[in-house]
Amino acid sequence: MSTSSPPMFANRVTELLGVEIPIVQAPMGWIARSQLASAVSNAGALGIIETSSGELDIVREEIRAMRDLTDKPFGVNIAQAFVRDPGIVEFVAGEGVEFVTTSAGSPTRYTAALKDAGLTVFHVVPNLAGALKAVDAGVDGLIVEGGEGGGFKSPRPVSTMVLLPLVASKVDVPIIAAGGFVDGPTMAAAFALGAEGVQMGTRMVSSAESPVHDNWKQAVLAADETDTVFLNRHTSPALRALRTSRTTALEHDTESNAMALFGQAMELYFGGDMEAAIALSGQVAGRIEAIEPVERIIRTCAADCLAILADLARRYPAAVARG
Ligand SMILES: Cc1cc2nc3c(=O)[nH]c(=O)nc-3n(C[C@H](O)[C@H](O)[C@H](O)COP(=O)(O)O)c2cc1C
Repeated sequence: MSTSSPPMFANRVTELLGVEIPIVQAPMGWIARSQLASAVSNAGALGIIETSSGELDIVREEIRAMRDLTDKPFGVNIAQAFVRDPGIVEFVAGEGVEFVTTSAGSPTRYTAALKDAGLTVFHVVPNLAGALKAVDAGVDGLIVEGGEGGGFKSPRPVSTMVLLPLVASKVDVPIIAAGGFVDGPTMAAAFALGAEGVQMGTRMVSSAESPVHDNWKQAVLAADETDTVFLNRHTSPALRALRTSRTTALEHDTESNAMALFGQAMELYFGGDMEAAIALSGQVAGRIEAIEPVERIIRTCAADCLAILADLARRYPAAVARG
């Protein structure tokens, strides 16, 4: 945190994560590596390194590269369905990581061991039952993720607008909201609905420092808000991805498992063939209009969020007077 100026945001999330701005870059297989995550951390928010690629040897190098690229805090995600390595807790703790998000699995599996190792743990939840279970398991906080977000999803998606205030009304732990966050207005809305931070996936995929092929970034810019598909509702995991000819054909397919396409993921992610696999992305693709550097995204988002909160207080002074 800057010592020269007062903190712009001060809440439980900035305190627990040790960041100036409560924005978290989403973990994303192959994408959330040191190039992107260090840019986010250096901008005053929190970069996260993925493990969902399952490439733990490379992930270890990426975590070590973070030490050279930033002196700011960063975290690691354990995507439980994709990393079945029994030594994952020792792996993360052994690399000196202090903040971890767990997702795609039960919060009872790793929370106690991660807490015993001294880590701060936030668990990703798609519904209220999952949130209560995670709190019971002893997590420090929740990432409450609405079904409009990109990536792997509950087969029964609930929008952020419904899920976030519901969970916030039932738990006392700090919440980072995910699914649909892209700018100052959405960040201010998250705060109004009970969150103390936001996580951004699709916005970060399409940032300048994202390592994905430019075709994916351009496809995000070209997307309308209706241009994602929800796949695999009949099996597991469900996922939300950009609409292409290939994913449109899978949209109502209840026979095949879209996960089979991940075998060709690299052809899409880094080769730019948008029909080769699945470009995980959220509905908020329809609101992204430019490829911008991470620092500009984060600084603009934070400043606009504060301006909106201040403007609301000015426009409704009775609210301030009533306390
Ligand atoms: C390309 C991509 C890959 C993702 N991979 C992961 C992952 O490995 N682990 C995880 O917890 N979430 C993953 N997610 C979900 C994000 O963490 C995040 O919560 C979601 O993108 C938020 O919604 P948004 O896309 O509207 O910002 C992924 C999302 C995207 C777009």
